[in-house]
Amino acid sequence: MTVHIGAKPGDIAETVLMPGDPYRAKWAAETFLTDAVCTNEVRGMLGFTGMWNGNRVTIQGSGMGMPSMSIYANELIKDYNAQTLIRIGSCGAMQDETKVRDVVLAMTACSSGTPSDTIFKEVNYAPVCDFGLLQAAHAAAHKRGTRTHVGSIYSSDTFYAERNDLTEQMIRHGVLAVEMEAAELYILAARYKRRALAVMTVSDHIITGEALPSDQRERSFGDMVEIALEAAFT
Ligand code: HPA
Repeated sequence: MTVHIGAKPGDIAETVLMPGDPYRAKWAAETFLTDAVCTNEVRGMLGFTGMWNGNRVTIQGSGMGMPSMSIYANELIKDYNAQTLIRIGSCGAMQDETKVRDVVLAMTACSSGTPSDTIFKEVNYAPVCDFGLLQAAHAAAHKRGTRTHVGSIYSSDTFYAERNDLTEQMIRHGVLAVEMEAAELYILAARYKRRALAVMTVSDHIITGEALPSDQRERSFGDMVEIALEAAFT
């Protein structure tokens, strides 16, 4: 057990999918895994371990924002020996061509700061995903016929952005979408020599204001989970 995860040593698989929402972890485990058992209930941040196509997988909620992601990723890596960590979640599109329901694979994630800033100080470290996972996820998405975009995203500290000028510059510089966790996940994976990727579904559009209707969310999120699972075990 760690401070935030109640699982016993060995209860967590080497491959971990990390949705922000603990109830999405429950839904994904019930929908895609067989023999899933609950491995964490501490603070309601649900985690499950089960099997997918003969492979052992954990699906553990990360919570929202980089400080929360940092807690769970640190403990999964250092205390439970997680080797492959894939964020699955939603993002807000920032380009005309990134449409609601599309999948975004984050090659890199910019930020105005991460919990790792105390290490880097004046340096703007460039967080990057694992290239092999990216390639595999892209191939899996292509095979399914899912509209997919690869590029940079913005890991924001706020959901309710107050600075339109910053959003405008992100759009101008080709940032595909905004979310709140990937940059710190990538930095931790680099630090501990693990593999990480963020696979996200566009749930809303920053420019047009369009949002995925709630009855269609499940199917779109399901695509993303299967792309992440296929990428992990390619
Ligand atoms: N901002 C930050 N994170 C998000 C958004 C957003 O607009 N949409 C989905 N995740």
